[in-house]
This record gives sequence, C-alpha cells and structure tokens, in this order.
Amino acid sequence: MIRPRTEQIVTIERFILEHQPQEAKGDFTNLLYDVALAAKAIAHKTNRAGLLDVLGRAGGVNVQGEDQQKLDVYADTIIYRLCDHTGRLCCMASEEQEELVEIPPEYAKGNYVLVYDPLDGSSNIDVNVSIGTIFAIFRCVDWEKRGRLQDVLQPGRNMVAAGYVLYGASTMLVYTTGAGVHGFTLDPELGEFLLTNDNMRVPEPPRYYSVNHSYFGRWSPGVQQYVRWLGGRDGNDAPLMSQRYIGSLVADFHRNLLRGGVFVYPAETNKPQGKLRLLYEAAPLAFLIEEAGGYASDGYRSIRDIEPLDLHQRVPVFIGNRQLVEKAEEFLAQEARVQAEMSENEALTEEVLSEEAL
Ligand code: AHG
Ligand code: MN
Ligand code: MN
Repeated sequence: MIRPRTEQIVTIERFILEHQPQEAKGDFTNLLYDVALAAKAIAHKTNRAGLLDVLGRAGGVNVQGEDQQKLDVYADTIIYRLCDHTGRLCCMASEEQEELVEIPPEYAKGNYVLVYDPLDGSSNIDVNVSIGTIFAIFRCVDWEKRGRLQDVLQPGRNMVAAGYVLYGASTMLVYTTGAGVHGFTLDPELGEFLLTNDNMRVPEPPRYYSVNHSYFGRWSPGVQQYVRWLGGRDGNDAPLMSQRYIGSLVADFHRNLLRGGVFVYPAETNKPQGKLRLLYEAAPLAFLIEEAGGYASDGYRSIRDIEPLDLHQRVPVFIGNRQLVEKAEEFLAQEARVQAEMSENEALTEEVLSEEAL
C-alpha cells in the first residue's frame, strides 16, 4: 500500500531535494535549507520568549518608525548571520534594515537575493499571540554587477520562491517554488520540519474575512461598501463568513489559506498606500496564494505585477479566495467611475459658471 505523502516521514530537506528544479545546481536548494535553519533558531527563541528576557523592546526604532522588539532584532540578526557568508546571495533586504543589506566583501557573492520580514506581528510578542517570518527569493538581475538595488526591486512575478514561518501552537514553514504550496511542521524533538500539508489549496467556500474594523472611518467609500458587503449586510450575495483578525499578518493569512477567506489592509486617508510592505510582506504572500488557487490585489491589479520603486514601499492588500478579491476590485472600479463622473460634472459646472460670468 502506498501511503499518502503526509503519512510518510518526509523532512523538508528531502522534499526540497526531490522537488528542486532540474537546472538547480544546489545553491537554490541550500538557500532554502538556510531559511529553514533560521526558522528553527527563531522558533527556539520564540518558544522561550517569556523566559529568556527577549520580551519587550530592544530600545531601537526601525525604518518603519516602529518600536523594535528584541525578538525582531534577534530574528533579523540570525537570518543575516546564517546567510551572509554562504556565497549563495548577492544581497538581501530586511524590513528591519533601512538600506540594501550587502554581502561583506570578504565573502563570495552568489546569484540569489533574499528579502524578508524577520518577525511579522511583533506587536503580539508580549501577549503570546502567534507571530511569523516572511521571505522570498529572487535571482539577481545583473550577473556582472551583482548585489545592487536593481537586484532587489523586482516585481513579485519574478520570485523563484516565497514562504513564511508561523510560530504558533506549532511552528510551521509553508513555501512555494512555483510548483504548489507545501507545509511543514517542526518536530521539536527531532529538530526537523516534517511534511504535513502537501499541495495546499485555498478551499471554497471561504469561512473568514480579516480586517481591522476600527479603521472604517479612514477608508474610501468603495472600501467601506466592500467591507460592508463582506459582512453580509442587507442580505447580499456574500458568502456567510466570520470576521477574524488577530493583527499578525502571517497568522491571519495562514488561517485563511487553510479555511478560505480574505485578508484586507486597504489604503487609508493618512496612509494612501496602506501599511503593509510590498517587497517582503505582500508580494511573497501573493505568490503563495496564487499557487494555492487564490489571488492578491492592491484593489486594481495583481500585487505580483507591481514593480517596487523603494525597498520599504507600502501597498494596499486584498488577498485570499479569488472571487472575494475580485469583488474588491469591482467595488473600487465602481468608485473610480463615480469619482470620474463627479469631477467631469464639476468641470462642466465650472465651465458654465465661468461662461455666465463673462
Ligand atoms: P510587523 O510586525 O512586521 O510590522 O507587521 C505587522 C503588520 C501585520 O502583521 C499585521 O497584519 C498588521 O501589522 C496589523 O496592523 P494594525 O495593528 O494596524 O491592524
Ligand atoms: Mn510584518
Ligand atoms: Mn516585522
């Protein structure tokens, strides 16, 4: 009897090796190992957060102007120190580092780029709510002058891998290389990530919608109508869903990937590009959700098609079941039409008034 993959004991190392692209020379495979090792190290610290005095603020403020928690700094440092000398990368970019993270001159440069949010949801560290790490891998663009900003500022469509680690009731690593989405759970005794979710697909019908309702007053009318639609107001045709939002993007995304749903962090009056960062939060998750049969949009187009102009560029995010995300695009397209008509009418009115004034 052939057992299903998830009943066999398949370590992430074996799975990566078995699924590596034919042309891979080992660098790409080893880079994924490096990320898995970093995840184990961060998980080890996270599971002891309350005991090893890694709780609380590191005292610094990151490029986002947000208080750095000690675990943010630890996670950022561990990823850098595990990856800077391997000769697999030409540069990196981290949410916690303002500038491009260069490979020290004493080490060889490789042909890949690693971008990452070392610790996502860090405001939840002190209250013991699940947090995560988000990462993505590009090939460098300019093989001669490797390790420049041009190598990092690539659209999500160019990613060769993307994934996240969820430090929750168990530690899970979920990734894609463009051949489906696969989930591994860390066995703390073995210290190994074992395959537990082979070929993950976002299920229908969706069960949850995730949004921070307290910002309702900051959204445009189109977004407000969409969120009301999600809530099934006025007996509309929205699927019956629960609202669930825990303020950790990775945890909210993971639940919606497993149960179906949509996560929404829209533009706001004081944040026209929203809060989430394109390069190392939205685009990696957009790759994953598309590979799982879903979709991710900024409200107008696929997040994977957006060319970043800045390392820490923010982007409005609608991500999850395709029909829920496309519904958001419908509401925002309708809003744009109404706004266009209104400004046309205003222009006409001004024209009439100025003619009358002559
Ligand atoms: P990070 O901790 O990396 O800055 O990310 C926090 C993000 C994301 O995880 C979460 O969905 C969002 O911030 C929550 O934002 P609000 O508190 O504004 O809802
Ligand atoms: Mn984050
Ligand atoms: Mn972060």
